[in-house]
Amino acid sequence: MQSIGRTRTQSRPSRSVNLGGMDYPDPKRKGNFVGKVALAAIMTTVCILVLKKSSFNYATPFSMREEGVTHVLVTGGAGYIGSHATLRLLKDGYRVTIVDNLSRGNIGAVKILQELFPEPGRLQFIYADLGDAKAVNKIFAENAFDAVMHFAAVAYVGESTMYPLNTCATYGEPEKMPITEETTQVPINPYGKAKKMAEDMILDFSKTSDMAVMILRYFNVIGSDPEGRLGESPPPELREHGRISGACFDAARGIMPGLKVKGTDYKTHDGTCIRDYIDVTDLVDAHVKALEKAVPGKVGIYNVGTGKGRSVKEFVEACKKATGVDIKVDYLPRRPGDYAEVFSDPSKIRNELNWTARYTDLQQSLKVAWRWQKAHRDGYGTPSVMAS
Ligand SMILES: NC(=O)c1ccc[n+]([C@@H]2O[C@H](COP(=O)([O-])OP(=O)(O)OC[C@H]3O[C@@H](n4cnc5c(N)ncnc54)[C@H](O)[C@@H]3O)[C@@H](O)[C@H]2O)c1
Ligand SMILES: *[C@@H]1O[C@H](CO)[C@@H](O)[C@H](O)[C@H]1NC(C)=O
Ligand SMILES: *[C@@H]1O[C@H](CO)[C@@H](O)[C@H](O)[C@H]1NC(C)=O
Repeated sequence: MQSIGRTRTQSRPSRSVNLGGMDYPDPKRKGNFVGKVALAAIMTTVCILVLKKSSFNYATPFSMREEGVTHVLVTGGAGYIGSHATLRLLKDGYRVTIVDNLSRGNIGAVKILQELFPEPGRLQFIYADLGDAKAVNKIFAENAFDAVMHFAAVAYVGESTMYPLNTCATYGEPEKMPITEETTQVPINPYGKAKKMAEDMILDFSKTSDMAVMILRYFNVIGSDPEGRLGESPPPELREHGRISGACFDAARGIMPGLKVKGTDYKTHDGTCIRDYIDVTDLVDAHVKALEKAVPGKVGIYNVGTGKGRSVKEFVEACKKATGVDIKVDYLPRRPGDYAEVFSDPSKIRNELNWTARYTDLQQSLKVAWRWQKAHRDGYGTPSVMAS
């Protein structure tokens, strides 16, 4: 199982955050170095059915198989996507073990999930570093997992490069849109390369294994739990490596002075870059469908996007409406190397997993996320604050 290695990337001195043709300056550090943050980050996550039985020294609900109960190990479950996936799995009756080293995630999110599902045998949290092989072996020896959803990663593209590179993790800059699963993979930044390497290792491993493997490649993830229980709360020091909705919310809050859109003369309907935004609720739905349809000995690879591109200008307008703040936007000249259009062809996942994106109203997704952001000025807060 250790072959599903973690992604290690280096940090970089950043001066401003750029979001696929859009960026916002860090008010604390004024400089002209511009590091681009890949916007159409495509991700690899894996659901692996673990088929062998293990023996245990002691028995807990998590160490025993139970008829009709599927036990899922969620790595990175304290993070943004992992916590939303855990909520959905618990709601659907799965048993969940979260493994996270809390380097990025929030124990507050885990506490909320535990409060929602306090019954024994529903949710267990294990603090561990997946880079620690001994710890991982122990976790597998002591727990009876049926499947793994792997979200743990150092997941900020901006951290993975010091160079002004462009979008689209494992696919690089494809010649043709939309991106299908057959689009050639030529990752152009360390983030994308690490994802591709992880995929290759999994594919190699699966050749001699009867595990069921599903690899999902995401586009830009936005939104949060519509019922407002969970949100996105990266460590403050990572803000400048930001994600696009984080940039919008920080600008709306006045933490950042505004947004900068770079390039208004692309060959798109309004001249700004086009990207594919996927709501986290749809994304975790794709994971559950992938888990349900995983077949031993087989590998499924799927793009998870809406298939609809939205321009940066549309995103900014949706952000203004969702937050009700008239965010200051500067429209600037293009950066070299920005790709005009990046969006997915989601037909394979629709045909094979019966999945389609349903939360496709950008403004609504941002509104939901903004509601959580407004009610949680300090994110999940510190553990001592959370304990109540
Ligand atoms: N959020 C996006 O827009 C987006 C887009 C494309 C792909 N992805 C991918 O989705 C996955 C999850 O992303 P996210 O946005 O939820 O990130 P996140 O940073 O919120 O969550 C990652 C979690 O993994 C944990 N973690 C990291 N290294 C670990 C280790 N060695 N051992 C144990 N736990 C560890 C962190 O503490 C954190 O809780 C990543 O693989 C990421 O690359 C995210
Ligand atoms: C957690 O994982 C990250 C990345 O995989 C690593 O850089 C960090 O040192 C780990 N932290 C702890 C406390 O284990
Ligand atoms: C596909 O999903 C839709 C919507 O959830 C559902 O109504 C339909 O029955 C599903 N079709 C199949 C073949 O499973």
